[in-house]
Amino acid sequence: MSRVIAIDGPSGSGKSSVARIVGARLGFLHVDSGALYRIVTWQCLERGVNVEAPASVAEFAAALAIECRPENGAVAFYVGGEPPGDRIRTPRIDAAAAKVASVKGVRDGITGFLRGMTAYGDLVVEGRDITTAVFPDSPARFYLTASAEARAARRRLQEVEKGVANQSSEAVKAALLARDRIDSTRRYAPLRKADGAVEIDSSDLTLEQVVDTVLASLPEGWR
Ligand code: DC
Repeated sequence: MSRVIAIDGPSGSGKSSVARIVGARLGFLHVDSGALYRIVTWQCLERGVNVEAPASVAEFAAALAIECRPENGAVAFYVGGEPPGDRIRTPRIDAAAAKVASVKGVRDGITGFLRGMTAYGDLVVEGRDITTAVFPDSPARFYLTASAEARAARRRLQEVEKGVANQSSEAVKAALLARDRIDSTRRYAPLRKADGAVEIDSSDLTLEQVVDTVLASLPEGWR
């Protein structure tokens, strides 16, 4: 049986960086589940599917082939043989992805896809519903959080570094809070802290301190 470290939290809480480093330390494959919601969103926008129409989005997503394979310590995703890269990291996709992620059919498909990845071995999976819905029985579940200011500052820096946007801090924070609201209030698998998950507020911690806290909280024999 493969082992799964499950990490949830709002945008900019540091999940991706923490999951990547923890995965590398332990030899667990990193799985960025948000990338799957972003890929479906990107393809909807490319193909003119109305992201405000849940039935159309669900039908389109069911027919969309996303390939995956382990690569460089992570599960990598491809569409039509091509990696999506930073095309799925734009503010336009940020805004539309929260809508696509509210569609039950999309969630069910991605949940099944994620569970199937255990066939590759041990995983560290990050997202919004990994601890509550995808792998609720994992003995290693974490809820990362940080103040809205800290999260917006990190997200803005990432956008500038990637060269995908250069928005004001206020605009980044407003967009992030709007997405959090949709992610936390949606009907299916909303973002919430799971009972029994270890909560880590990273506002005043370094990345290394958060990684150490996660590693120290793992079950016996996982480190
Ligand atoms: O983590 P992210 O910003 O890349 O996620 C993109 C969108 O997908 C965001 O609106 C949250 C949603 N999401 C989700 O609903 N469930 C997950 N397991 C991962 C992401």
